[in-house]
Amino acid sequence: MNTNSFYSSKIEELKKNKNAIVLAHYYQEDAIQDVADFVGDSLELAKKAAQTDADIIVFAGVYFMAETAKILNPSKKVLLPDPLAGCSLADGCLPKDFAAFKAKYPNHKVVTYINTSAAIKAMSDYVCTSSNAEKIIRSIPEDQPLIFAPDKNLGAYLNKITGRNMVLWEGTCIVHEAFSLEKLIELCLEYPEAKIVAHPESEDPILRIAHCIGSTSQMRNYIKNSSADTFIVATEVGILHQLSKEVPHKKLLPAPSREDNSCACSECAFMKMNTLEKVFHCLHNETPEIKVDSSLSKQALIPIEKMMQLS
Ligand code: 13P
Ligand code: SF4
Repeated sequence: MNTNSFYSSKIEELKKNKNAIVLAHYYQEDAIQDVADFVGDSLELAKKAAQTDADIIVFAGVYFMAETAKILNPSKKVLLPDPLAGCSLADGCLPKDFAAFKAKYPNHKVVTYINTSAAIKAMSDYVCTSSNAEKIIRSIPEDQPLIFAPDKNLGAYLNKITGRNMVLWEGTCIVHEAFSLEKLIELCLEYPEAKIVAHPESEDPILRIAHCIGSTSQMRNYIKNSSADTFIVATEVGILHQLSKEVPHKKLLPAPSREDNSCACSECAFMKMNTLEKVFHCLHNETPEIKVDSSLSKQALIPIEKMMQLS
């Protein structure tokens, strides 16, 4: 029995004994996805967390995802295998700075991406994910001025497709801003039949040439349902794991980043802080546990619930 099989069987035992579930994002390492009860995009994971009957949720993702799970289902014990698993978007939007930014636009309502802390959600009127952002924005009267934070690439894309003029916070995702247009074009010339799929956190030049722009699940569905056989995938490389099992005959090429041609550069260092061993230890020891101050949690829940109703 190798180390992964050892930890996987221990995790399965602990899940049964403790009435626990493991929820994993697509960007988690393969072995974690394989031991998870559900693998999904951030909206699907939030829905699963809100609905579960389990007593313990091991959230194999990053901090803001586990925190959102706790806000949605506060009576559950929510564990995050590595509490330092952050996100460049969430970590780059601090409440003090965001309050000052918001104060400059007193007539604007605030739409924030789910990749933010509870404190930022509590300062927001609406929360969205990449899978429902367009729908949420279209549900807001057109004459209502808006702030969008923290991802300026997603915000610019939403402005373009909805015709809005939202004021954008200057945040980026360190993984999705790193794709190289030049190298991507070279790859397209090598594989002219390839369809390009991209996450909307990518920069505009990449999005302009993409055939599909969507959340991790939306990209996965596009690849599964498309009649094409070759795809260039501009997102974190972990998404290829489920697809390689579901459509093994399709050729999936990670989009090259500026730094290097290997797919290692499109790994999210935060997501990859979780390991199978840490999943085992956190479930065994029931720590690190995510806690959210109850009045902050209630305030942050208001825009999250609006999103859930609209999704
Ligand atoms: P999804 O909502 O598409 O899963 O995206 C989460 C994320 O962090 C993308 O970088
Ligand atoms: Fe955050 Fe980017 Fe990592 Fe997603 S891929 S968790 S947006 S740093």
